Amino acid sequence: MRRTRNSRSARLRFAALATALALGAALGACSPGAPSAPSPGTSGDEADPQDGAASPAPLPSGELVSASPDDLRLGVAVAGGGHHLETGLGSGTALADETYASLVAENFTSLSPENQLKWEWLRPERETFDFAAADELVAFAQEHGLAVRGHTLFWHSQNPAWLTSGELDDDELREVLREHVETVVGRYAGQIEQWDVANEIFEDQARLRTRDNPFLGRFGVEIVADVFRWAHEADPEALLFLNDYAIESIGPKSDAYFELVQELLADGVPVHGMGFQGHLSMKYPKPGDMRENLERFAELGLEVAVTEADVRMAVEDGVASPEDLAAQAGYYEVMLDACLEVDSCRSFTVWGLSDAFSWVPFFFAGEGAATLLDEEYRVKPAYVALVDRLATGR
Ligand code: G3I
Repeated sequence: MRRTRNSRSARLRFAALATALALGAALGACSPGAPSAPSPGTSGDEADPQDGAASPAPLPSGELVSASPDDLRLGVAVAGGGHHLETGLGSGTALADETYASLVAENFTSLSPENQLKWEWLRPERETFDFAAADELVAFAQEHGLAVRGHTLFWHSQNPAWLTSGELDDDELREVLREHVETVVGRYAGQIEQWDVANEIFEDQARLRTRDNPFLGRFGVEIVADVFRWAHEADPEALLFLNDYAIESIGPKSDAYFELVQELLADGVPVHGMGFQGHLSMKYPKPGDMRENLERFAELGLEVAVTEADVRMAVEDGVASPEDLAAQAGYYEVMLDACLEVDSCRSFTVWGLSDAFSWVPFFFAGEGAATLLDEEYRVKPAYVALVDRLATGR
């Protein structure tokens, strides 16, 4: 086991980290997009001339993992594909950069491919599977002793045109889905610990997403049970999750999942977990009842997980205020706290290593700074808050 739980050295490192962070934050060192920022992938170790003589906030060096309870996976989505296609990454992943790769390997115990297991990546053509990018990520995880969360088998987004064009009849569509699930889950059997089997199957108003999910539109909710059964047959050891955003609190959308999952369990469908993505915005209050919400799913015998945590805020020219960065810590803390207080929450994943690769600015104009590290991989108050919360244990 790579972790040393709450070790003295971790505490000392943390104290030094907190002091350095306070200095750095006071001087605005955490502002993403600072004019003198080196491009992502450079070491970020050099003092920023804008900071005068003061030390910038440090890069993380394993504090999260050191402070974490042994039964909690700390995960990160590895940048690549999706919105990164139009940036410097092209079709590769950020792991090509040594600094990025070592930060992932040293600071997390699990990774999620951000895009490479989605249909548009694996199934560019109906007859062709392309596992090259996903294989690389899984190999990296194995080399560094990280678990993998698989994301995702059944979703309304990032599907290839041949699948969504409507050219397949019902039998063909069902067969293509069965083949996809069995092939993909089977390929990574024993290597992918948890799968987000069905992703975002309810709209924001808790209506089943029949309008834009090609499978739900054709077959209704019954197809969800089939997908779980096929996945389970392909890898009986993998933990199989439903997963969605905007379900952190108790409300119509999380209630819809609560009802559906009870029906699935009553029918003997192999559903093992409920994933709460955790894409929060500081425009809205913190999810005050997240622990209770996770608890009610746990009481059904499910694992629960925070699967895609990030916290976005208003930015000006990409720069967040020190006050907002400090307040952001509280949002992350609420999510980690809920997870730590529920025994069957064994996985806490953040959606992106640093602001250099976050999806947020591409989707929300004027918002950003959503991850734990700034664009130069320096820690933000949220990172320190999570280390602190982890150190207090479950
Ligand atoms: O497919 C279109 C293409 O036709 C068009 O030419 C191109 C022009 O920009 O865009 C393409 O879509 C991109 C898509 O990935 C597919 O490659 C989007 O711009 C791009 O923004 C998108 O990004 C990914 C997003 O999922 C898609 O919804 C992000 O990289 C990825 O981080 C994000 O991850 C999701 C999780 O999977 C599920 N939960 C929410 C989370 C954040 O949105």
